[in-house]
Amino acid sequence: MCGIVAYIGSKQALPILVNGLRRLEYRGYDSAGVALIENRSQSTESRNPEASIQCVRAVGKIDNLSEKLKGQSFDSTFGIAHTRWATHGGVTESNAHPHSDCSGKIILAHNGIIENYRELKEKLGSSHIYKSETDSEVLAHLIEFYYRGDLRKAVLEALAQVCGTYGLVVMHGDHPSLLVSARLGSPLVIGLGEQEYFVASDATPMLAYTKKVIFLEDGEVAEVSRENLHIVNLKDQNITKQTSQIEWDEASAQKQGFDHFMLKEIFDQPTVLQDAIRGRYKTEEGTAHLAGLNMTDAEMRSIKRVILIACGTASYAAMAGKYMFERLAGIPVEVDVASEFRYRDPIIDNQTLVFGISQSGETADTLAAIKEAKRKGAFVRGIVNVVGSTIARETDGGTYIHAGPELAVASTKAFTNMTAILLLYALQFGRLNKLSVATGQRLLAALAEIPEKMKLVLAQNEKIKELANKYKNNPNFLFLGRGVNFPVALEGSLKLKEITYIHSEAVAGGEMKHGPIALLSPMFPVFAIMTKNQLYDKMRSNIEEVKARKAPIILVATEGDLGAAELAQDVIFVPPTMEVLEPLLNTLPLQLFAYHTAVALGRDVDRPRNLAKSVTVE
Ligand code: G6P
Repeated sequence: MCGIVAYIGSKQALPILVNGLRRLEYRGYDSAGVALIENRSQSTESRNPEASIQCVRAVGKIDNLSEKLKGQSFDSTFGIAHTRWATHGGVTESNAHPHSDCSGKIILAHNGIIENYRELKEKLGSSHIYKSETDSEVLAHLIEFYYRGDLRKAVLEALAQVCGTYGLVVMHGDHPSLLVSARLGSPLVIGLGEQEYFVASDATPMLAYTKKVIFLEDGEVAEVSRENLHIVNLKDQNITKQTSQIEWDEASAQKQGFDHFMLKEIFDQPTVLQDAIRGRYKTEEGTAHLAGLNMTDAEMRSIKRVILIACGTASYAAMAGKYMFERLAGIPVEVDVASEFRYRDPIIDNQTLVFGISQSGETADTLAAIKEAKRKGAFVRGIVNVVGSTIARETDGGTYIHAGPELAVASTKAFTNMTAILLLYALQFGRLNKLSVATGQRLLAALAEIPEKMKLVLAQNEKIKELANKYKNNPNFLFLGRGVNFPVALEGSLKLKEITYIHSEAVAGGEMKHGPIALLSPMFPVFAIMTKNQLYDKMRSNIEEVKARKAPIILVATEGDLGAAELAQDVIFVPPTMEVLEPLLNTLPLQLFAYHTAVALGRDVDRPRNLAKSVTVE
């Protein structure tokens, strides 16, 4: 939560910072700000810093900040910027970052929470004048307290007093070529250009300029100038870091002609699914080969239980994964929402394999949960999208889902790619157990057909748009699914509520009669997944129950199922596939339905209210 971007180099900083913020807007968007040190101050260290530092902040989305910056010209090649998701202090301009100390010379942008900010404030005493209600501003004053001419040292001394988490960039008016940056619990990536550096919460703001990056680890502090990068630990000891190459390209982080990132990301799915599975299976042996698992065959055979830990959409991918694992590998699987897992007493041993599943790789609850699982001796692996993210680095192996940048807050392509990777894992474990080569081969052949079948589903975009317009004014929705399509129903319901603000629930088809059926009325549409699989007849009976209560019915059904049209007001047909693969197709109409409903209702699709894409606080 909260996005940070900083630039120091020879280019004009403002456009880089504002465009960078747009890329990071998914991390929070209640207010934003930018601070620049103007170039004229570079020659004279003694110049009045108040005249050389420019700080502009605005409540609301980046567009508001942009609007405010219009007509103002700055000559600056060094600045920091921030987009906020409020934790401490309401959404006001004075609470927006960057924040400064009493002198106005120390300017910082912070992501995370300073838990002991009240104690620190007390310690600093009444001589400090605060301009905001934020915990972050206290940090600026604490750095001021320790500052004796060396910014890095002051930051280190201040951080030694801090309890909490931070991704931090700090500059000082007296050091117009020096940026200090630190990380503990909130991600920071340093981009290495030609005589220029970028620091940001993820790599997307720097993709147009460099692919060479360094991932700052917890407890590391970087001192960055135009010519130099110097990294130390919290004890001020030098650290040598390896550079990494980012594979994402600039185009993949743009809308590419689509109206919204969400729509673009829905349409990315056939392509990125191929990226996820390419080179990760062996057709002849009918198995998957996920080398990153980093376990021997003997270790894999020793696994008696799998626990899938995730939040939000990733937890629904995990639920789909449970069906796949249990059916193909015959291994019992539990799915745990990370925030629950970390605070109960999970029973884990060295025959337990735990997967932390996360698009961002930064979700605080998932991270804490996998650390707990590791402490208890399980094998802990990651299924993650963002390369170099914290969960990717905290796990002892795992798999990147290769979905490319996912910038809409509502997750779409990450869901399908996580599900595909879980399927490959289920296959790999299954083939070590009882699954036959023939079944493995059949599954791989069916998986290879999914991208083309996804395209057939996406080709119904216009029809689904019409449905969205037809149903957009209903205040409630019920999503129904059974078996492997129950998580699909949950995901469809989540998509709808998070971007349209329409109340919706999802229940397993068989559970409807135990309560939710009481809700049904002609104003309470039911969106059900009734594809041709082993539970088809059961699901059909559930739909009959809905029909009898006169609730409108929208069905996702298998092509050629003529009976579906008799049952429902509206049907979206999907191509047939093997049952365990159905989530990879059946989720797509639900994503499109949520998207078009949100557009029809005039919602801010990519940045729904109150949400953030990467939840780095508990
Ligand atoms: C937030 C996002 C969701 C996402 C969840 C888990 O709630 O809004 O879209 O599914 O976090 O995020 P992760 O990055 O761990 O997959």
